[in-house]
Amino acid sequence: MLPAVGGFPPSDRALFLAGYGELCRIDLNGKRALEICGGFGKLSGLLAETFPGAEVIGLDLYAASGPEIDERLSRLPGLSYVAGDALDLSAYMDKSFDLVWGQASLHHLAHDPDKLCREVLRVLKPGGRFVFIFEPLGHNLLVAAIRAVRIAREELPDECNVYFSQFERMLSTGFSRCEVQVFNMLGYPMKALSDRFGFISRTAQRLDSGLFRCFPRLLRYGANCNVIFTK
Ligand SMILES: C[S@@+](CC[C@H](N)C(=O)[O-])C[C@H]1O[C@@H](n2cnc3c(N)ncnc32)[C@H](O)[C@@H]1O
Repeated sequence: MLPAVGGFPPSDRALFLAGYGELCRIDLNGKRALEICGGFGKLSGLLAETFPGAEVIGLDLYAASGPEIDERLSRLPGLSYVAGDALDLSAYMDKSFDLVWGQASLHHLAHDPDKLCREVLRVLKPGGRFVFIFEPLGHNLLVAAIRAVRIAREELPDECNVYFSQFERMLSTGFSRCEVQVFNMLGYPMKALSDRFGFISRTAQRLDSGLFRCFPRLLRYGANCNVIFTK
C-alpha cells in the first residue's frame, strides 16, 4: 500500500485507501505506468518507490520540481517526470502502458472526454487500467455550489463538474469495464473540521458507507469518487 494516506482528513481516508489499492492492484515491477496531471509529482514518486522495478512517468502541464520529486528522481532510475498535455499523448507508443492514472485530474479534462479516452485507449495495453482517484461529483449540490463559486471567482476554464453520465460515455469509447467507487455524503462538509474533531468525520464517513450500502440510490449524492476503467 502506498504510504501517502496520512495527511488527508479522516473523512477521505477510505477513499484514498481504495484508490491507492487500485494503483497497487497488480505488481507493477517490470511494467509501465503513466500519471497524468501529476501536480508536484508526489504520487508518481511514491509509486516508483513502491515498485522500484517499474517504469513510472509523471506528466503535468508544468514540470514538477521540489523536495517530494527531486530527491526521488535522483534515486529511482525508473522514475521520470515531464511537462506535457494529458490530452496529447503522441509522445507515447501504442499499447505501451499497463496503467494510466490521475488524482484530482478528471475534472480538469472532462471538457473533452472523447479526446482523453482516445489517447489513453491508444497507449494502454489490452487489459490495462485507467484509474482516477479523488474526483468531485457534480450531483452533490454542495460540491456543485463550491465548484461554481471557484470557477466564477478564479475563472478556471478547464474545471468541470464530473457526472455519472460522463463515465458511461467514456466507457462507450472502447473500455470493457468501468467501476465507480463513491464516498462522502455526510462526510463531505465534515472536511472543514480540524483534526481535533476527527472522530466526527470518521463517524460521518462510517455512516455514509452504511447508508450507501443500505440505500444504493444515495450513491448519486456522494461528493467524491474513484473511477476505474479497464481496456
Ligand atoms: C488539482 S491538481 C492535482 C495535482 C495532483 N494530481 C494531486 O493530486 O496533488 C490538477 C493538476 O492538473 C494539471 N493539469 C490540468 N490540465 C492538464 C492537462 N491538460 N494536461 C496535464 N496536466 C493538466 C494542473 O497543472 C494541476 O497540476
